Amino acid sequence: MRPPHDLPEPPHQVSFRFGDEEIEAWEGETVATALLASGVMITGVRAMSGRSRGPYCLIGVCHECLVEIDGLANQRACITTVRQNMKVCRQTRLRPLTGEDETREQ
Ligand code: FES
Repeated sequence: MRPPHDLPEPPHQVSFRFGDEEIEAWEGETVATALLASGVMITGVRAMSGRSRGPYCLIGVCHECLVEIDGLANQRACITTVRQNMKVCRQTRLRPLTGEDETREQ
């Protein structure tokens, strides 16, 4: 039996940018859970209808949580682990599926 002082270290806190907001998260947490815990429910807008969308399945299936992360479009927030100082943005328009986005503003 392990003694009580041999418990695992608690996770460290990290922070990342979501638009203009600074979001605090736990190391190992996903972007989607960090955003939801911070009260952010809307991660983007549907390109065709213009309706809001946000994390739904949280297992990488529905693609409702697509965001831009460090300039890369079409990233699923629910399966992406937070990193210190990463930059996350709402995805508000249709993006190519190639990963690189030639239309990205500089
Ligand atoms: S919430 Fe469904 S894929 Fe991310």
